[in-house]
Amino acid sequence: MKRVITYGTFDLLHQGHINILKKAKALGDYLVVGVTGDDYDYSRGKLNVFQSLAERIENVKKTGYADEIIVEEYLGQKVSDIQKYNIDTFVVGSDWKGKFDYLKEYCEVIYLNRTKNISSTELRNKKNNVLRLGIIGNGRIAARFLKESKYVSGIDVCSVYGRNEEKVKQFYEKFELCYYFTNYEKFLDTVDAVYIATPHTTHYEFAKKALLRNKHVLCEKPLTLSEDFARELFSIAEKNKLILMEAIKTVYAPCFNKLINIAKSGIVGKIVDVRATFTKLIDDKSLREYNLQLCGGSFTELATYPLCVIIKLLGSDIKEIYLKSIFDKYTNVDIFSKMNIEYTEAIATLTVGIGVKSEGDLVISGTKGYIYVPAPWWKTEFFEVKAEDPGKVQKFFTKFDGDGLRYELSEFVKSINRGYSSYKLSSNESILIAKIMEYFLKKFPQYNYVLQKA
Ligand code: CTP
Repeated sequence: MKRVITYGTFDLLHQGHINILKKAKALGDYLVVGVTGDDYDYSRGKLNVFQSLAERIENVKKTGYADEIIVEEYLGQKVSDIQKYNIDTFVVGSDWKGKFDYLKEYCEVIYLNRTKNISSTELRNKKNNVLRLGIIGNGRIAARFLKESKYVSGIDVCSVYGRNEEKVKQFYEKFELCYYFTNYEKFLDTVDAVYIATPHTTHYEFAKKALLRNKHVLCEKPLTLSEDFARELFSIAEKNKLILMEAIKTVYAPCFNKLINIAKSGIVGKIVDVRATFTKLIDDKSLREYNLQLCGGSFTELATYPLCVIIKLLGSDIKEIYLKSIFDKYTNVDIFSKMNIEYTEAIATLTVGIGVKSEGDLVISGTKGYIYVPAPWWKTEFFEVKAEDPGKVQKFFTKFDGDGLRYELSEFVKSINRGYSSYKLSSNESILIAKIMEYFLKKFPQYNYVLQKA
């Protein structure tokens, strides 16, 4: 009996899939089809698969060509599948030509001609209409975002808005966008959604105007500098059936979500202590991060990350907050801040710094053990679950690709297409983060003036 195997995502099953399955089946007597698991697709950067694994398996089954369907869960699994299922021939489309030659050591490898003019990517784009996305701002983060956007399908980053004509034009030319604007209203006319990548103090105004003009908003963190502003923005979004999402990249990354789920499962017992540190030395004092007028400083710049973990694990019922900050002599922004957040039966500590360096790790302690996430925990990729017995360590790894901005963008596009917000960062969580930002800013008089304007 000749046994054949082939693999694919098989999203929105189309004629190209049916043709290859038919040809693969005709090459032998028994066909095994590997359908990619959701985690595997995510980890290899295929972020916008439309259908669930169950639906994709069901569709492959319905073709009638597969004798057995398996799930492909990790890179390298093909080598073991071929041996395990006693495979004679591996088949894949010609778009992969040469990529699987390493399997020739185990079986025959055949690349079949790909069916022309059809793909899941094209069908997804047709189904959703490609989203026209505009970038507000032309600084460092906007440039990184554009590079990362190439990994997400279903969007066309077409337009950029900036105040300085020369700079915004340069950005538009460099990234070969379709339009650039210094007029915000005209910019909004060209897009369905915006990504706000400007200084913190400008977020509220840009987001509000965009939402009122029926545009979805993905906004850099911190979304706003006050609780009321955050509430107002979410209520406009809800009323107009729009997606408003705070771009805290960590919370949308696959390993971070695994970490939260595992921590919540009770694996370390009841969580009583969360310690999260994020420091990033910034030397150039002419940058936004040191500009008091733009609400710079380590807390506004970095605290959203640890706050996310703390709120996700310990909730919103905060009893007390203690804060200590150290300020830069010349610019008067905080170069280091440490905050203790007290709950009835737990305590969390967040440490952030742009002028002080520390180990950027995360420790989640519970009554039965603890979870350790090494630096840089905010680009979560690996964590260990440890207990009293040093022999009992469980290790978890899921890749964090690139700058990670692709995860938040992919989640934003998915949320728009399905018509409801992501559970990965809820509006209540964002509002609580804004409330804590406000608490910080109100504590120090030098921010008063800025707060009134923001
Ligand atoms: N395939 C094919 N002809 C097409 C599309 C896919 O022969 N027009 C083959 C691929 O080469 C692969 C299998 O079908 O062997 C499953 O491919 P998959 O990646 O699921 O399909 P695509 O349509 O290429 O998906 P995407 O656009 O998401 O990359």
